[in-house]
Amino acid sequence: MPPTCYLCPLPKQKIIDLYLHTRDLIRHNDDIHMQRTKVKDLLTGAGEGQDVLLKGWVRTKRGNKYVTFIAVNDGSTINNLQVVANADAFSEEVLKDVTTGAAIAVTGELVASQGKGQAFEVQAKSIEVLGKADPEAYPLQKKAHSLEFLREIAHLRFRTNTFGAVFRVRNAMAFAVHKFFNEKGFVYMHTPIITASDAEGAGEMFKVTTLDLDNPPRTEEGHINFNEDFFGRATNLTVSGQMEGEVAAMAFSDIYTFGPTFRAENSNTTRHLAEFWMIEPEMAFYDLKMNADLAEEFIKYIIRHALEHNREDIEFLAQRLAEEDKAKPQNERQEMTLIEKLELVVNNEFERVTYTEAIDILLNSNHYKKKKFQYDVSWGIDLQSEHERYLVEKHFKKPVIVTDYPKDIKAFYMRLNDDGKTVAAMDILAPGIGEIVGGSQREERMDILVERMKMVGIDPEEMWWFLDTRRFGGCPHAGFGLGFERVVQFVTGMGNIRDVIPFPRTPQNAEF
Ligand code: 4AD
Ligand code: MG
Repeated sequence: MPPTCYLCPLPKQKIIDLYLHTRDLIRHNDDIHMQRTKVKDLLTGAGEGQDVLLKGWVRTKRGNKYVTFIAVNDGSTINNLQVVANADAFSEEVLKDVTTGAAIAVTGELVASQGKGQAFEVQAKSIEVLGKADPEAYPLQKKAHSLEFLREIAHLRFRTNTFGAVFRVRNAMAFAVHKFFNEKGFVYMHTPIITASDAEGAGEMFKVTTLDLDNPPRTEEGHINFNEDFFGRATNLTVSGQMEGEVAAMAFSDIYTFGPTFRAENSNTTRHLAEFWMIEPEMAFYDLKMNADLAEEFIKYIIRHALEHNREDIEFLAQRLAEEDKAKPQNERQEMTLIEKLELVVNNEFERVTYTEAIDILLNSNHYKKKKFQYDVSWGIDLQSEHERYLVEKHFKKPVIVTDYPKDIKAFYMRLNDDGKTVAAMDILAPGIGEIVGGSQREERMDILVERMKMVGIDPEEMWWFLDTRRFGGCPHAGFGLGFERVVQFVTGMGNIRDVIPFPRTPQNAEF
């Protein structure tokens, strides 16, 4: 007979098993309960009155000899969670390493906050420093830092309010890009990063090679012999996924790419990067008008998504801009707040004009008559950024779709219009940014396309696979490219494109 319980007839071992099982259950429940909750969720008050576990980085610490307030941020929201540590529970010794920038884990009760500034706070029961941040060395201090300074510490700038907001907005917009096209049944195409073709014919490409640069193999004529290179030919980083995108559209009807593109143009401006992300949809059976309609719907969709899902971040950025504005002379200040500007864009039609109409508007402007443009205006010129800005900011005061540019200033693949002088191109210009989209209906007629290629010095033989799409089941089609950073700039109101990509690559700069 096994020994039994002295209170009941159950065998002792059974009681022990039951006890162990119950204990594990309780522990397990505790574990679940003490799973980390993100600050964003805690701030909604979910779990009020219960013990919670949070982890994050200390933004500030302040207080007096009775109580210490620690503001913790974990990147889930622009808002910090206030942790209250009473002096009777936490000695100075424990709190001394809780400094700005340190990573900490806190348990305690989530309670309605007594103080103003937040609805909920955590009454700390335990605080563990997971990673110290030497206050003497940590570069982010409570004072506001300049964007230029923060660019030099791009690895830490995510921990500021401004960059937290910018990159959460960027993330939301990237998600919205996929959501938009997925809802429309577009296929996401991963076009190559390394390519042997120059889609834009602009020649501003980064070479990709494994040749020994000190001692490269040479041809008999003395040129570098790329036949001996890794791919057996000269290759570059892509400037656009369009060529491959067009090929894919000839099978899936509607595709889009969303990937990094590279341009070795030596432009040190607030709108150019050497590495930037581009979204390039390509649609079979679309003409220029349908292309423009899609682009407009798309831009409004991703802006609306950001406004709906990242309201607090955008409100913060709007406030930031408003403050920046106060420092400017009256006549340079914005007429609208950032949010008003974005709402205006999503709730109104974009303006549509032809290039020829745009030139007329410029020629008839007082600005032109008073010789205020640095570059002269005449039919045939490539619009300079001052001209684009005049059109969108002074004349129309909203985004403008300019179509039908002279063929000589646009890429070879754009469809030649019946006038023989212009092509079915479209650029979308946005206030404060300039060009955010470039696109066109494509030249689907083989003979005209080949002629245009030869005229710009592209060897049709090299592009045999591209031309095959015109040879086998070619059809009218169109597409465009949206510069992702430029639209993020537009939504966040950031003046410099280097502040909307995590680690900007620009001439003379590839740190991090
Ligand atoms: O106008 P782009 O050169 O057009 C193309 O590349 C076409 N293949 C697109 C297509 O039809 N599929 O570039 C498209 C957009 C520009 O309107 C601009 O927003 C952005 O890409 N862009 C840049 N953004 C940041 N830095 C640069 N250096 C950029 N160059 C172009
Ligand atoms: Mg362009």
